[in-house]
Amino acid sequence: MMSSLTMRNELDGYAGELLAEQLAAEGWAVTESFLPASVVAALRAEADALWQGGKFRQAAIGRGNDAGARPATRGDQILWLDERSLTVAQDAYWQAMDALRRVLNRTLFLGLQNLEAHFAVYPPATFYHKHVDRFADADERAISCSLYLNPDWQCDDGGWLRLYAGETPVEILPRAGTLAVFRSETIPHEVLPAVRTRFSLTGWFRRRSLRGILP
Ligand code: OGA
Ligand code: MN
Repeated sequence: MMSSLTMRNELDGYAGELLAEQLAAEGWAVTESFLPASVVAALRAEADALWQGGKFRQAAIGRGNDAGARPATRGDQILWLDERSLTVAQDAYWQAMDALRRVLNRTLFLGLQNLEAHFAVYPPATFYHKHVDRFADADERAISCSLYLNPDWQCDDGGWLRLYAGETPVEILPRAGTLAVFRSETIPHEVLPAVRTRFSLTGWFRRRSLRGILP
């Protein structure tokens, strides 16, 4: 396992800055090797075991009175990471994400403060309809980041992340090690159905709410 220092150095460098540059220009960015393959494989094994153990819950839409499971909108099941009790692999992920957070703050002045992240499983034929990652009554989520955990995933397996950025939608295959990063507020996106079970670890960088401060 890599030390967190190595992880941090890795991301402070070229890869992080390339992501920041593309994110600034396009509103989204992607890298195919965000973490060492061994860490991705360990995250996958953990997610799989937790899934088999019945630890995931049907994902809900919205919050408060509107909250509820809506399989017709999103069919995934999720499990939140607990920052206070991360496994070794989850900690490597958390450190790498924190390094990315600091690169984005340094280069783009985003003022990102913290991370929330959950594993997600999409059983075959499930999907997540076109949406944006921001609740109507909360503006803390600034940057969405999906890390995919699916080894040997082929185009025919489906499960693409489709981003509505610019004139032509961008489609990203959920292959192990790929990280898709995009602006939570401005980029509508959807998860297309897959023929195999699709695992991911999705995180959001959050910042202080500006509600009540900005008009
Ligand atoms: C989400 C989401 C994308 C993906 O959880 O809000 O859009 O590719 N996930 O898993
Ligand atoms: Mn989303």
